[in-house]
Amino acid sequence: MDNRPIGVFDSGLGGLTVVRQRIKELPKERIVYFGDTGRVPYGTRGCDVISRYTAEDCAFLRRFDVKMIIAACGTASSVAPHVLKALPLPALGVVDATGAAAAAATKSGKIGVIGTAATVSTDAFGKAIRARAPQAQVFSQACPLFVPLVENGWIDPQDEVAIAIAKRYLQPLKDQQVDTLIMGCTHFPLLSPIFAEILGDGVTLIDAGRETAIAAHKMLEAGDALTADGDGECRFFVSDRPQGFADIAEMFLGRPIRANVETVDIARLSDTEA
Ligand code: DGL
Repeated sequence: MDNRPIGVFDSGLGGLTVVRQRIKELPKERIVYFGDTGRVPYGTRGCDVISRYTAEDCAFLRRFDVKMIIAACGTASSVAPHVLKALPLPALGVVDATGAAAAAATKSGKIGVIGTAATVSTDAFGKAIRARAPQAQVFSQACPLFVPLVENGWIDPQDEVAIAIAKRYLQPLKDQQVDTLIMGCTHFPLLSPIFAEILGDGVTLIDAGRETAIAAHKMLEAGDALTADGDGECRFFVSDRPQGFADIAEMFLGRPIRANVETVDIARLSDTEA
């Protein structure tokens, strides 16, 4: 048993898809969440910058003596797995569990992947799928505009702008007749009702945050590292705009959190540590 918290990070709100699943499955586990809202988006940046941000986010979480780090960010997980591997504690990205879930779900073998431009450029999800289902055909689509939609709270299933953008991005995947779609950026499940409406019942949506929370549960269980008597406390840190984060996070998690959101100057902290 290990009563230390789990560290979770993302460039912003997307990692809440992991937190939401953790609340359902492991209500006693404590979480320290870092959303790098001051430097979002990650997905339009180069590999060196994304790797550096990933290392800094992990260093920040390690200040809390976390027992595990979850990179709840498709971009960091795809571009900087080497940073996660080099950590001296268990660490998990979103790619493997999500790729495995998609390979298990598809019937036609045609799988769509939507993610940030950086994620799509690595083909990380495609590799994870083909490792399990070598015959699978993977069609990837970069969807950078979904990230600012989510960060600005434009996530209502009736939102005309979000619907128009989603139609444009998803049409090529519809044309390929995928039967499974990986939402490979953790921001995207906040828009999933819109995707489901556009793609219809025949397409299974795979939520990277949810699959990763389930994988983390299994990993903690296997290492006998679940908490014995945790109180499920969630602490949230952001690098900018705590109010904007709290508003959308409360809507998404369905519980009040604003008293637990603090702001950190990640650039200054990282300079001090360097
Ligand atoms: N939520 C992130 C991801 O899963 C990052 C989005 C971004 O910052 O561009 O890729």
